[in-house]
Amino acid sequence: MPGIVYLDGQWLPSEHATVSVFDRGFLFGDGVYEVIMAYHRQPFRLEQHLARLFRSLEHVGIPNPLGLHEWRYLVEQLIERNEGDQQSIYLQVTRGSSGKRQHNYPTDLKPTLLATSQPVSVLEKVTTEIEPCSAILLEDIRWARGDIKSTSLLGSVLLKKAVYESGADEGILHRDGVVTEGTASNVFVVKQGELLTPRLSDYILTGITRDFIFELAERYGIPLLETDISLQTMYDADEIWLTSSTAEVRPVIELDGREIGTGKPGNVWKRMAQLYQKHKSELYSCGA
Ligand code: PDD
Repeated sequence: MPGIVYLDGQWLPSEHATVSVFDRGFLFGDGVYEVIMAYHRQPFRLEQHLARLFRSLEHVGIPNPLGLHEWRYLVEQLIERNEGDQQSIYLQVTRGSSGKRQHNYPTDLKPTLLATSQPVSVLEKVTTEIEPCSAILLEDIRWARGDIKSTSLLGSVLLKKAVYESGADEGILHRDGVVTEGTASNVFVVKQGELLTPRLSDYILTGITRDFIFELAERYGIPLLETDISLQTMYDADEIWLTSSTAEVRPVIELDGREIGTGKPGNVWKRMAQLYQKHKSELYSCGA
C-alpha cells in the first residue's frame, strides 16, 4: 500500500510526488534528515529529533522551511494520513534547486521538504525474539562531520554493503583504532558492569537513543563513562550494544568471528532493554 507523503506543501500518494532533476539533494546529497519512530501513532522523542534537525540545518546553512509548531503539525498529519500503528517517519530537507548543476549555491534557494512514513513492526517486550547480531570492525571511511545528519550517505552505504558481503549483520567503525559508531547506530560496551561509549566528536552523531540510554543509566544507577574505545576493548567486552531509533538497543554477540562475553545477550543489556520498553511506553503515552 503506497503511503501518503508530504512534498513542499502538498499531500500526495508517493507515486505522484516528484522533484526537479536539479534538486541539490539528488545531485549532491546536499540535505539533512531525521528518522523518528511513532509507537501507537505517537511520535517518540519528537522534540529531540526536531532540535537535532534544526541543528543539522544550521550547520549546513539550509534555511529552516517551517516553524516548530508547523513541524509538529506536519508529523502529526503524516502519522494520521498513513497506515500502521507503528511507523517510521522520515523527514528530509534539501537545499533545493537553482535549475542547473553548480557546486556553489545561491543563498536564496527554496529548500525542498519531503516527509514520508512507512509501517514497521516493533517488539514491545524483551523476549528471545530480539535477535542478537554479529558485527565486523571496519575503518570509518565516512566524511569527518558525522555529527551532522546529512543525506550524503555513500560512505555508510558502501560500508553496509561490505558488512553484508562478509556475512555479518552490522559494522562497527573506527578511525585509527578508535571506535566511532555503527554504520547507522551508536555503540555501547559493557565491561565489569560499567557502560562505556565513545565520547561525542565531529565523527559521531548525538543519537536520540544514546541520550535516552544516558537518562536511564543515570536514573537506575548504572555507571556510564564516555571515553575512547580501542579495538582490543571491543574484543574484551562483556557485552556490546548498538543503539538507534529503529533498532532500539541491539545486542552484538559476535565480533570479527570472536564470541563476545558469554556469546549470548548479556544481563546488563536485558535490564536496559526492559527499562527502555517500560519508559518508552510511558513517554509515548504522554506524547513526549
Ligand atoms: N540512523 N549514528 C548514525 C550514523 C545513524 O545513522 C544513526 C541513526 C544513529 C542513531 O541515532 P538515533 O538514536 O537518533 O536514531 C547514530 C537512522 C535510524 C537512519 O539513518 O536510518
